[in-house]
Parts: sequence; structure tokens; C-alpha cells
Amino acid sequence: MGSSSFITIAIDGGAASGKSSTSRALSSRFGLMHVDTGAHYRTVSLALVRAGVTPDDAEKAAQELKSIPLDTVVSGNNARLAINGEVPDDADLRTPEINAVVAQFATLPCVRRFLYDYQRGQVAVAKQRDFAGLIMEGRDIGSVILPEADLRLFLEADPVARAARRAAEGRVDAVAQRDKIDASRATAPLVCPEGATKIDSTYLTLEEVVEKIAGMISALLNK
Ligand code: CDP
Ligand code: CDP
Repeated sequence: MGSSSFITIAIDGGAASGKSSTSRALSSRFGLMHVDTGAHYRTVSLALVRAGVTPDDAEKAAQELKSIPLDTVVSGNNARLAINGEVPDDADLRTPEINAVVAQFATLPCVRRFLYDYQRGQVAVAKQRDFAGLIMEGRDIGSVILPEADLRLFLEADPVARAARRAAEGRVDAVAQRDKIDASRATAPLVCPEGATKIDSTYLTLEEVVEKIAGMISALLNK
């Protein structure tokens, strides 16, 4: 497939709305590079916590970020952020401790600026590695990072259903509280961008959501 048919897909939504599971399934079906930007914020939060920085100290965070090198490690369809030469284990990124601070670190403009160029640069990484396209998920992908994406989707689900999904995974996570911080911050808040397609998955299975979006991607590829 030539780079002229390269497609970019942005998926945003609140915590446990199904972004990662949906993106994973679609990336393997269509040969897209999958980038989970929530993991980027978790990785940066972990590095800052390890350096003794708290989210109320923006100055120290900015200082610390100056000396942190970023890299990308691609395994299968998944592109992950390496920080200081290391890709942290998923288990270390999803602890109750990181769940409790990640949304606060994500409010800091210095943290968002730190990731902006890196995240936009993932389009070039996916092209270099001959993927058929890029699927990037987060909170501000369709609004700030890739507003020109070919397909912009916003996943929604009732907060009670989302908290139950996390609980079913056996995870401790204040889903509603994180959403509140994410939706009310000044820089790049969680919003459904104008022109994006909303999908409410409260009463849909993961497979149903995947099929719905797969239909949209196929239509795009057959244009
Ligand atoms: O990435 P995000 O936090 O938005 O959500 P996720 O980690 O993909 O999904 C959270 C959990 O909800 C997973 O265990 C999914 O299998 C489940 N899920 C679901 O039960 N029904 C859906 N329609 C979507 C996801
Ligand atoms: O998996 P889940 O939806 O619970 O969260 P995540 O996608 O791993 O994102 C963790 C946190 O990172 C979010 O609660 C946001 O505070 C932040 N985030 C963000 O601000 N912007 C993004 N594009 C992605 C995540």
C-alpha cells in the first residue's frame, strides 16, 4: 500500500470508554500503528514521581523534563514511549498511585508541551515503518494533536458502566474523578471535537463497537 493511502484515526473519550481495546483490535485488523497517548502521560508521571516531583510543583516538573530523552519502541502494531531509554511495564503504569496523579500531571502545560511534538511525530514513525496508517487514542487527539485526522471518533459510555468495566478488570481507578479533572482543565481538555463522530458504547459490546468503526475505516479505504 503506498503512502498516499496512509490513514490517520483519532480516538478520544473518558476513562474506560473502550479506547485501548477498540484501537488494539482495529490496529491488527487494518495493519495500523497503535499509539496509546494515555500511556505517554502515565510514563511521564512515573518518571516524575520517581524523580520526587509532585503535580503541584510545575516548576520542578518543567526542570526535570528538560533532561528526559524520549524514544519510540515498536513491538507488533504497538508503538510505545521509551523514557530515559526504558519502556516501563504496563503494570507499573496502571498502579493506584499513578491513577491518582496522572490526571493532575496532565493538567500541567509543561507536560503537554513536552509530549506534543513527540505525539505528532508518530505519523512519520508509522510511515517510515510501512504501516497502513496510524490509530492514536487519548483525550485531545482529534482536537489538538491530529485535528486533520481522516477519522475522528469520540467514545462515550455511562460513568457507572465504565467504573464497572474497570472493576471487572480488578483495577482500582476513580474513573469519574479523573474525567472531571480531564474535562475541566484549561489546556487541551477532554471534549468531543466539532465534526467528530460520537459512539455511545454503554449498551454495545466491544465487538459491536469494533465492527461499527471497521465499517467506517473500510469505507475510507475504498474511497
Ligand atoms: O482505553 P480505555 O480506558 O478507554 O478503555 P479500555 O481499557 O479499552 O476498556 C476498559 C474495559 O472495558 C476493557 O476491559 C474492555 O474489554 C471493556 N469494554 C467493554 O466491556 N465494552 C465496550 N464496549 C468497550 C470496552
Ligand atoms: O486508560 P484510561 O482511559 O483510564 O486512561 P489513559 O488513557 O491511560 O489516560 C490516563 C490519563 O492521562 C488521563 O486521565 C488524562 O489525564 C491523561 N491524558 C491526557 O491528558 N491526554 C491524552 N491525550 C491522554 C491521556
